[in-house]
Amino acid sequence: MQSESRVVALVATGGTIAGTAARGDDLVGYDAGALSAEQLTAAVPALAGEALETWTLARLDSCDMDHATWALLRRELQSRLARPEVAGVVVTHGTDTLEETAWFLHRTLAAPKPVVLTAAMRPASAPSPDGPQNLLDAVRLAREPGARGVLVAFGGKVWAGGELRKLHGWQLDAFSAGDAGALALVEDGVFRRLRDWPAPELHRAPVGEVPPGAWPRVEIVTSHAGASGRIVDGLVADGVDGLVIAGTGNGTVHTALREAAARALAAGVAVVRASRCLAGGVVGTTDGALPHYGAATPAQARIELMLDLLARRT
Ligand code: SIN
Repeated sequence: MQSESRVVALVATGGTIAGTAARGDDLVGYDAGALSAEQLTAAVPALAGEALETWTLARLDSCDMDHATWALLRRELQSRLARPEVAGVVVTHGTDTLEETAWFLHRTLAAPKPVVLTAAMRPASAPSPDGPQNLLDAVRLAREPGARGVLVAFGGKVWAGGELRKLHGWQLDAFSAGDAGALALVEDGVFRRLRDWPAPELHRAPVGEVPPGAWPRVEIVTSHAGASGRIVDGLVADGVDGLVIAGTGNGTVHTALREAAARALAAGVAVVRASRCLAGGVVGTTDGALPHYGAATPAQARIELMLDLLARRT
């Protein structure tokens, strides 16, 4: 007999993990999100007979992820986590914006139980897909005693949702947590923890109350050789609420962009910086420099600034 809190609620949102190609050996030309949550679990024999509750929330290629889907996902997860019989939840997702959804949930969803995101680099129709093993690991992690927080089960490792970044466009070992490293290793179905499960770090922004279409508009601008400030001026004229400048190195910003950022700030637009480097983020502060969110990638910093702007509205 299943113990009381053994149900795992599994939501599918699309991605390569649910992708199918016309030809089995085609690893790049496939439809992301073609399969439903039921089809995904049916492809993993080890999940047969497990107490799973599946639903298909979206069939997105995650490059098209949007704020409305995030809000819906967060609400659905909240209601399932509140049920005593639910041990944890699993979210299947595309890899391309996994670091963004993981950050959003990490900062906005109280997760005293595991909220496990998973994905795949190869479509379900591949001769050797990576999705089924990742899904199995994710379901097991959702039932792991003591586990909590927003976690990512991928490639035999467990990552903290607030630390994830995608490093590679097509290899199987596509993720990292920068200098923080993995949270745990999956060893033959057993989780060998390297660090504590992530502590809650909830943002105070009233995310549950944002009407559709009312999210602050925050754009990312990259600093590079020969940069001009015109893109920033154009965005300000177009009514942007906030800007993240993906700076070089430790968040340094081309002089022309810095000058444009000063004009944006004077016009009431919030401006922060991040680093376009793959790891390290931005450390330290310099007089007069733009603020930053430490190790957050530019895409994560965009969400963080959106949340800050939402909090300032109240
Ligand atoms: C996606 O992000 O939806 C497509 C790519 C992937 O899942 O690897």
